[in-house]
Amino acid sequence: MPDDHVTSILTENRVFNPPEGFSRNAHVKSMQDYENEYRHSIENPEGYWASKAEDLHWFRKWDSVLRNDCGFFKWFEGGKINVSYNCLDRHFNNGKKDKIALIFEPEYGIEKKYTYAQLLKEVCRLANALKKQGIRKGDVVEIYLPMIPELAISLLACARIGAVHSVVFGGFSADALRDRIQDSEAKLLITADGSFRNGRVYPLKENADVALLECPTTQKVIVVKRTEKSIPMYPPRDMWLHEMLADSSIEDYCEPEQLNSEDSLFILYTSGTTGKPKGVLHTQAGYLLYAAETFKYIFDIKDSDIYFCTADIGWITGHSYIVYGPLANGATTLMYEGSPTFPAADRFWRVIEKHKVSVFYTAPTAIRALAKEGEELPNGCNMSSLRLLGSVGEPINPEAWMWYYRVIGKEKCPIVDTWWQTETGGIMISPFPGATPLKPGSATRPFFGIDPVILKEDGKEAGINEGGYLVIRKPWPGMLRTVWKAPEKYIEKYYGQFPGLYLAGDNAKKDENGYFWIMGRTDDVIKVSGHRIGSAEVESSLVSHPAVAEAACVPYPHDIKGQAIYAFVMLKKGSQKTEQLKRELSQHVGNKVGPIAKPDKIQFVDDLPKTRSGKIMRRILKAIAENTKEYGNVSTLADPTVVEKLAAERVQ
Ligand code: PRX
Repeated sequence: MPDDHVTSILTENRVFNPPEGFSRNAHVKSMQDYENEYRHSIENPEGYWASKAEDLHWFRKWDSVLRNDCGFFKWFEGGKINVSYNCLDRHFNNGKKDKIALIFEPEYGIEKKYTYAQLLKEVCRLANALKKQGIRKGDVVEIYLPMIPELAISLLACARIGAVHSVVFGGFSADALRDRIQDSEAKLLITADGSFRNGRVYPLKENADVALLECPTTQKVIVVKRTEKSIPMYPPRDMWLHEMLADSSIEDYCEPEQLNSEDSLFILYTSGTTGKPKGVLHTQAGYLLYAAETFKYIFDIKDSDIYFCTADIGWITGHSYIVYGPLANGATTLMYEGSPTFPAADRFWRVIEKHKVSVFYTAPTAIRALAKEGEELPNGCNMSSLRLLGSVGEPINPEAWMWYYRVIGKEKCPIVDTWWQTETGGIMISPFPGATPLKPGSATRPFFGIDPVILKEDGKEAGINEGGYLVIRKPWPGMLRTVWKAPEKYIEKYYGQFPGLYLAGDNAKKDENGYFWIMGRTDDVIKVSGHRIGSAEVESSLVSHPAVAEAACVPYPHDIKGQAIYAFVMLKKGSQKTEQLKRELSQHVGNKVGPIAKPDKIQFVDDLPKTRSGKIMRRILKAIAENTKEYGNVSTLADPTVVEKLAAERVQ
């Protein structure tokens, strides 16, 4: 068998059909409906997207739907639009001014609710304040805030005046902030006096002060008061937001800027787990359209829904599915501050109960962490309002999927396992909850207009169940437009390997039903004896063992096999770290995936090196497994001390 095949396949045979009642009321009611609409969207994508774009508000309609400008794609050129108008004024004008747009559930203090009318006013006032500071169309505004309403309001205020926002996750360090500001050349920074997490205050302003020492472009800093902590202020650079807004010349309405479809909307830096952070650029109309459409169909959104996404707005999931997608649909979106496990591991379940959340979207890492705590906590909350669950960010192992389905969804909520990326702007592969039969661990089928294919190294299409590169053939409106200040990187990284086709950087396979199974990044693929093995597959099989809570596998050099698998395994409470269990786990993987996938080394760990967003930093695990001691930058880790602990207990 050629060595670019993923030879071991985790077989998952369970299938879960959408509940009948759900399908009856869904936007897409059956696979037949899905197939028809999908075929139509693929046969005539431009016609399809143009018809969808009619639903948005335009100051001026577009001249061309799509143009390929030497590999750089342009959507809806000639059109004039404003994203904040579409997210706010449109609903205000359509009888939704008193509908709740945003619910804020704090870690500390009291909840806040904003109607569409109130949110519009807050956005306009901040937009006017920004204008007063000289911010104009095309200027970059860096945003380094906790998960508080001002974060969502800042995004929309920038969008209103055509400023380009660049959000830096509030858990990032001063260095990470500095690197991003330097690259984006932001004129102004919006930050806060601190953020609450796990009962502690994280020093945002102090970090910003350090970062700004090396950021000459940023001459102004707006500071939101979130804590009672006293912080250094350096006027005239630093200004309190509440003082700025108290100025009587700040009006409650701000005329929306009429922007070109392809004007920049935001830059978002990818996690930086490999090399320097890359600024992914998204533009106005196409991004908005794609976030809006995917949100409507994948979350099957209804006017009565209360939608809760647990992501941080510092990541693309928060941009597209806390702010832009929900608000473009006139939905009620809930954002929370803090962490899933503080003050207790029932935080999510309590929020769901309190606000009668109907659609819940979270990440597998959170599901696994909470599943580890047992069923008592979720069972202690009334979550009968839930009708749909979602997952994003990494492959969800079937065991976690089943727990989510059974314990949280009570076997009545479909789960949408949504595959997408910062670069794709919105969800690309996902079930349609009223139509798609679910297979735990599969993101299932593509969204309308999305044309994914699995290619082998030689560019030929992979066979059924044969692993390969996940590639998207047709352009779509939500796609990134370029890498900020590095257009050559955009072409090389995304369109270099298979010219003209978007390379996702993920390894995947397609099964006999046309379902996609994402198996991890191509850089996480482990070649054992010339065979490629998806690390996610090995991890899934390990996690399916009753003793295992979480696992991460990386390659390390092996004399005979070339590469072998090193597994870092976190056990569930009560499991003993014994040599016998190691043997059992190895055998378990052999049985589940195939003998070739058995880890040669297993290290039991108490914690894994994760970014604050919960992504495991494999580069660090690889360095430990390879004993290179070249861990690189560990400052973005939630807890940098885990690295030393893991290295000290490395399996020889
Ligand atoms: O490897 C895929 C994984 O996350 C990557 C994108 O990461 P990021 O740009 O941070 O965006 C995350 C949120 C959209 C992908 O290349 N990924 C994301 N969703 C899934 C996934 N892997 C498997 N299944 C998913 N549902």
